[in-house]
Amino acid sequence: MTIFLCGFMGCGKTTIGEKLAQKLQCAFIDMDDYIEQKAGKTIPEIFAESGETYFRDLETQAVKDLAHEQGVISCGGGAMLREENAEIAKEFGEIIFLDVPFRTCYYRIADSDRPLVRKNTRQQLEDIYNQRNSIYRKHATYMIDASKSPTAAVTAIQEVLNFTEGFNS
Ligand code: S3P
Repeated sequence: MTIFLCGFMGCGKTTIGEKLAQKLQCAFIDMDDYIEQKAGKTIPEIFAESGETYFRDLETQAVKDLAHEQGVISCGGGAMLREENAEIAKEFGEIIFLDVPFRTCYYRIADSDRPLVRKNTRQQLEDIYNQRNSIYRKHATYMIDASKSPTAAVTAIQEVLNFTEGFNS
């Protein structure tokens, strides 16, 4: 089965996902890296050249491609917002929402080249965070408080999934 980690930009999906995969001895895939490799372009390039809707379509395709993988997938911050994507993810696995306060996420992403960060003010990003929060919660099978250490988040995920030893499909 596939574990989809979702949550706002900067919530720790990649760091926690890598640690979780290591602990469970399974594959780890970063969805943004997958999209960039497949497109042969960076995410800022995709947004700039083809727009956000096109990127969201690539994201839906990535969810379809990766849903058959056995392992941990760190999703882009918007990947589990589309109903269709979440339905596919839930059919093949579990969606785990990593809950982290906005100020922590913002501190981590403020200087990044993420397109949404570049084109929105801090207040606008906080509004997006608030709008998305209920959608993440609605689509997730489990919600984890990921505001403490990555290790604590990994342990909490293992507990909710009942994966205390290896990865079982
Ligand atoms: C996005 C988050 C990014 C990336 C893209 C759009 C979003 O991923 O997919 O810039 O809409 O929240 P991270 O959450 O890994 O930064």
